[in-house]
Formats: sequence, C-alpha cells, structure tokens
Amino acid sequence: MSVHQVTVSAPVNIAVVKYWGKRDTALLLPTNSSLSLTLSQDDLRSTTTVRIDPKFEADRLWLNGKEEDVTSNKRMVNVVRELRALRKSLQDADSALPVIDSWRMHVCSENNFPTAAGLASSASGFAALTFGIAQALDIAERIPRAQLSRLARLGSGSACRSLFGGFVAWNMGSAADGNDSVAEQVADESHWADMEALILVASDARKDTPSTAGMQLTVETSALLQSRIKDVVPKRMEEMRAAIAAKDYDAFAELTMKDSNQFHAVCLDTFPPISYMNDVSRAVVHLITSYNALFTQPGAAGGPKKGYRAAYTFDAGPNAVLYVRREHVAEVLAIVNAVFPVPTTDREAYLGRAAQYVGKEDVA
Ligand code: DP6
Repeated sequence: MSVHQVTVSAPVNIAVVKYWGKRDTALLLPTNSSLSLTLSQDDLRSTTTVRIDPKFEADRLWLNGKEEDVTSNKRMVNVVRELRALRKSLQDADSALPVIDSWRMHVCSENNFPTAAGLASSASGFAALTFGIAQALDIAERIPRAQLSRLARLGSGSACRSLFGGFVAWNMGSAADGNDSVAEQVADESHWADMEALILVASDARKDTPSTAGMQLTVETSALLQSRIKDVVPKRMEEMRAAIAAKDYDAFAELTMKDSNQFHAVCLDTFPPISYMNDVSRAVVHLITSYNALFTQPGAAGGPKKGYRAAYTFDAGPNAVLYVRREHVAEVLAIVNAVFPVPTTDREAYLGRAAQYVGKEDVA
C-alpha cells in the first residue's frame, strides 16, 4: 500500500425523536431509538484528513487546529481500536490487503461552525473521524455502512446517524455487545425534497452541561424519562416513520415539537435540573406556536391538527432548528427576523447526503 492521505466530510444531523439516555455508558447504547434528518454539508460540516504512514511514531490528533492527547480521549481510542481490528480481520481473510498493523496515523479534524454549542458538533465530528480513518485503512467500502455507523456510535451516540443522508433512524437494539445498535436510512434526501431546516442561533457559547453528563444524570434521577422510554418513544418512532413515508407534514410537525418539548421536560425533571433552553428559545416556541395557530384546524379524532407551517426542535443548547416546507421558508424567516432583529442569526439548510469521501492524495 502506498502512503496516502484521505479527506472526508460528514454532515450534522438534527433529531426529531431525541436520543437522551444510555443503558451502557461504555458502548454508548441508548435507552431509546431515535430519528433524525441529515443536513446538507454546504453549510455545516466536519472535515477530517487522515494520513497513515510507516514513518510515523505515534497516533496524533488535531481538533480545530489544536493538538489533543489521543490516549486520554477514551472514545477516540475505542473507535480507532475497533477500526484497526476490523482492518486486521479483513487483512487476515484477504492476502491482497497489505499488512499495515504497525502504521500509525495523524488525524486532523475541523468543524466549520462552533463546537459544543448544541449544533450537533460531536455527531458530525465523530462521523467524519470514523469514516476518514476507515477510508485511510481502506475498509470503508468493504463493510456495510451500518457497521461503520456502529463504530461511529462508540465515539458519540448521535454520530452513528451522520453516516447516512436524508431521514435516519438509530435503532436502539437489544444485544449486550451493541452489534445491533446501528443507524439505518429511512428515506433518502430526495424523498421529501421541499423540506428545509432553518437554524436560529440564539447563542454560540459552549453549553454548560455536556450531553454525556446531562443524560446520565437524567437516567439516574428522572422518573419521567422511564415513562418516555417505555410509553412514548416506541409508538412515536412508528408514527414518525409513517409521517415521513407519507410526507405528512402535519403529523411530522406535531411529533417533532412534542418530542422536543418532552426531551426538555425530562431535562427539567432531572435533579438537579438541566435547562438548555433560554428566554430566546422560549420566545421562539411561543412565536412558532402563535404563527401555527393562525392556520391550524382540528384534524381527525386522535390525529394531528391540520395546517402547520413550522416545527421547532431544540437539542442540548438554546438554538432552534425549524423544519419548514420550502413554500413557507421566506415567510417564516421574515417573521423570525422581525421579532428577533438582533440576537438570533439564521442559516438556511437543506436535507443532505451522508458522510462522504472528498479525496485522496498520494504522499511521496
Ligand atoms: C440532544 O450524541 O452528543 O442532540 O452519545 O454522549 O456523545 P453522547 O451524546 P450526544 O447526544 C445528543 C443528544 C441530542 C439528541 C439527539 O441528537 O438525538
């Protein structure tokens, strides 16, 4: 194998049925399944370059230009170890694959947006790392994408969903070793072509409670989480899949907003409580609720209302993502900008494709 370096990029995904809680903190196995939309990489992405070289003495990692101690990053160590083990088993089975067990790698990764501000940076970051190293080890195209998503999951749970484009479910699985806790594409990015995401940045400061610590505290202290896991999410996943298959925006919007509300309710039910939303976030909820109320009518008994124009969702930070159909984007943006003239900045994003290969360079 010639010495080469590869560059890949990976997209952000924003969940409409949220992952919050682990049943296994070492393997990053979730307490419930989740479902997200992958955003286009035109705007938000992580880019990773990996070079693997027999001359390198140690694995090294630079994140956003700053060298990190790879050995102290347990998740990173796990991902690299699993990728190398996979390469070794493929090598053992195929004598055409050169033995590169002793080759070390240098990895450079960067986000083109603020890190850890609730804009899903760990999702795109670990998806790009996993995919980039897999490409450098020449295994990415030899194993199913679902298996790569399993490895990205060891880096950050939500990262497994960024290995796919469009609408993506992460099935929680039941195996103790986590082999069936993988992502799956529900529909590709062209399926619902007029769906757009508006990202309203209320603050790009680093969040106070990182997701990992926050969700464990929720698992330990929230009774509401137990009811969410058991009584709400399984049915909601089915309803969300059906809404996406039928391109039923009313059902999609109502489920998305309810799930965001419940995720933040579960955070408040944590003790001590966690609040990711701020006054601007709550004002966005109020605005979107009032705006929708101008157009919605009662739907069929037990079903969603009819006529929604915008659906909000918030992750572990104050920034809103609105899922809006293209015909209403200009109107929604005009209203948001009229009500929040200064503090929010908005970005328009489209549905996007999976983690992708950018290029390969041979190194002399
Ligand atoms: C609120 O994937 O960042 O964005 O697995 O501990 O790395 P770790 O957590 P992370 O949590 C994401 C939580 C969320 C909801 C979601 O994306 O589903």
